[in-house]
Amino acid sequence: IKITIIDRDGVSHEIDAPTDMNMNLMEVVRSYELAPEGTIGICGGMAMCASCQCYVLSDTELPEMGDDEEAMLSEAFNVKDNSRLGCQLHITEDMDGLEVELAPEEL
Ligand code: FES
Repeated sequence: IKITIIDRDGVSHEIDAPTDMNMNLMEVVRSYELAPEGTIGICGGMAMCASCQCYVLSDTELPEMGDDEEAMLSEAFNVKDNSRLGCQLHITEDMDGLEVELAPEEL
């Protein structure tokens, strides 16, 4: 599926995200090296660091937030109404056309 990811420098990347590799959005960002090593996915995808926070720009329907995601986002910086944790977004066919922007790096 095609996903557009705007990196932290504001550069837009249209990428092919596999739906058959059990990946989440944070892992896709890492595999395409759209954020420097060590600045995203710090907790390993456990919804415990918010380094994978992104803003959802498209009106793509996404799965509801889980309790862990909601709890982390209630404490994270730079959270907006359209914030999600990339590591909690499992890539599925339904996400074709998704557009997200990476949130600024947390200090
Ligand atoms: Fe840590 Fe997503 S990688 S919250």
